[in-house]
Amino acid sequence: EKGTYPHYMLKEIDEQPVVIRKIIQQYQDDQGELTISADIIDAVNEADRIYIIAAGTSYHAGLVGKQFIEKMAHIPVEVHVASEFSYNMPLLSEKPLFVFISQSGETADSRSVLVQVKEHGYKTLTITNVPGSTLSREADHTLLLFAGPEIAVASTKAYTAQMAVLSILAAVAGKARGVNLEFDLSQELGIIANGMEVLCDSKEEMEEIARNFLATTRNCFFIGRAVDYYVGLEGSLKLKEISYIQAEGFAGGELKHGTIALIEEGTPIIALATQEHVNLSIRGNVKEVVARGANPCIISMKGLEEEDDAFVLPVVNELLTPLVSVIPLQLISYYAALHRDCDVDKPRNLAKSVTVE
Ligand code: M6R
Repeated sequence: EKGTYPHYMLKEIDEQPVVIRKIIQQYQDDQGELTISADIIDAVNEADRIYIIAAGTSYHAGLVGKQFIEKMAHIPVEVHVASEFSYNMPLLSEKPLFVFISQSGETADSRSVLVQVKEHGYKTLTITNVPGSTLSREADHTLLLFAGPEIAVASTKAYTAQMAVLSILAAVAGKARGVNLEFDLSQELGIIANGMEVLCDSKEEMEEIARNFLATTRNCFFIGRAVDYYVGLEGSLKLKEISYIQAEGFAGGELKHGTIALIEEGTPIIALATQEHVNLSIRGNVKEVVARGANPCIISMKGLEEEDDAFVLPVVNELLTPLVSVIPLQLISYYAALHRDCDVDKPRNLAKSVTVE
């Protein structure tokens, strides 16, 4: 039930801190150590390469998950859009592990890959919010998201839950392989849950950003570098899906290879600047588009902020920033859709789970 909330989407955005705390608790053992069952960790650590298969928002979580697994567990990862995989099957490594990420566990595109790779006898793991779902039943292993039912078509809490579970999988597998993680992941996830709370309390600012940048625009671009690029992809999907504004996410460096031609007077550009190692470059991209008349909305992280930034995020571990930086984008999309009188929870032409290929 959505209780006092006007929409499920807003309720589900607000639930994110609680979901992250629930995930920490569900994946902790009696000593408070993050843990995942040994058969799953063995399957991960026996693999010479992980293939993540997903669609839509879950695909975007997979892109971030690749960074987690490569950095925390030192296993190479490829991320594939499910619908493309069957006919664009890459040359596989000798011992692949297929990881399916799906909120519903029912996405037909992902299931068809699962069926295909099982025929070859490959190992499979599903990360899903729905116990007993098709992808869960048919894979060798399942990890649950514990996000509670997600009703709004636009996925929000499942995305952050997927990234949290992927980070735990990466850290626990890494530990078993002797990788020395320089931080305590459960503590960092706790900091993230607190940061999420601050962001969920910043709705007025987000509403104002939506009003200032998106009330009447035809289009909108998201730019970012490193993990910010992936969060921009998710931000653009969220915005187009519920507000029907034509939105695209780009790697900052790609702008000058074509997209900059679309910048006109007043075109909104939402730029994420949460990564210290690329901060100068993304700031440079913003200057390039501003020189062509763009209306920049910069979302940065404390410590990297500059005077005209539209919003400054609380500090969290740099690798894990997508878990917090997506929240302003979810809220901005929500308010942009409201301003435009769109049906936030049930956008046109879309279904919550896509069970046809
Ligand atoms: O249930 P799944 O995670 O497999 O669904 C995948 C996509 O259909 C889903 O993420 C879709 O892109 C959402 N509507 C995005 O908000």
